[in-house]
Amino acid sequence: MAEPLLRIEDLTISFPSRQGQGAVVRSVSFEVGAEIVAVVGESGSGKSLTGRAIMGLLPPRAETTAKTLSFEGRDLTRLAAAHWRALRGSAIALILQDPKYSLNPSMRVGRQVEETLLLHTSLSARERREKALAMLSRVGFDDPQRVHASYPRELSGGMGQRAMIAAMLINKPSLLIADEATSALDHDLQVQILELLGGLTRELGMGLLLISHDLQQVARFADRVLVMRQGTIVDRLAASELADATHPYTLALWNARPSGVTYGTRLPTVADEMEP
Ligand SMILES: Nc1ncnc2c1ncn2[C@@H]1O[C@H](COP(=O)(O)OP(=O)(O)O)[C@@H](O)[C@H]1O
Ligand SMILES: [Mg+2]
Repeated sequence: MAEPLLRIEDLTISFPSRQGQGAVVRSVSFEVGAEIVAVVGESGSGKSLTGRAIMGLLPPRAETTAKTLSFEGRDLTRLAAAHWRALRGSAIALILQDPKYSLNPSMRVGRQVEETLLLHTSLSARERREKALAMLSRVGFDDPQRVHASYPRELSGGMGQRAMIAAMLINKPSLLIADEATSALDHDLQVQILELLGGLTRELGMGLLLISHDLQQVARFADRVLVMRQGTIVDRLAASELADATHPYTLALWNARPSGVTYGTRLPTVADEMEP
């Protein structure tokens, strides 16, 4: 079989100061190819740290070990800082929850969308601008020129998130990590952005690691699902199998998912569902 885009074997992450707490990510192994792999699990289960480990962006105090952490066949565990910087934003991109924290408020959107081209290519200013405008239209802006010249505060949350996606995708990364990338948006916008991400993933032949607590959306947009609990992967299944999950924890998460029917009523927590 061809080498997957991303291969992780026995990833363990711990924080030395958390005495007696043990590792917060324990012996996690998975692969991602040109597909959408979702990572689901309750808050604190280790999803974000796993995503950050792939980007080499763990907090400095984190201690990481892995038997394999490789990207396109390259061993990330031995990568020097300069190579990480080259990889980030160019071959691997990360989209976080809130554009407010990801976009620089004092820099025009267009300049930020062009940033990775500036850092990683030798394109001229004019070529960068053309690519940025094309990418801004690709993520759904009818007026890319205006958005290009805007400051982040002039965009709504959903527009800001689309601008972020444009910035992340402009240099055609092969792997995109979206960590709760749509959680701060209203439902319709979430669906729009996930459709956009899903479409671009297929179109560009990328891999997408979709970190999400929304199982309804995962069922709709992902190919495969990894279920994390307390730092380990407890279940793996096709997204189409979520509704018929057999693992009790996966089933509990599925049953606790918000939906139109339960909207406005108290949701069962997973702990309730797991009681014998
Ligand atoms: N900087 C940190 N220092 C100490 N513990 C941390 C740090 N970041 C995360 N953790 C711990 O690691 C666990 C997993 O965190 P995280 O990956 O952010 O979970 P998730 O994204 O699934 O909600 C949590 O229990 C959290 O308390
Ligand atoms: Mg998280």
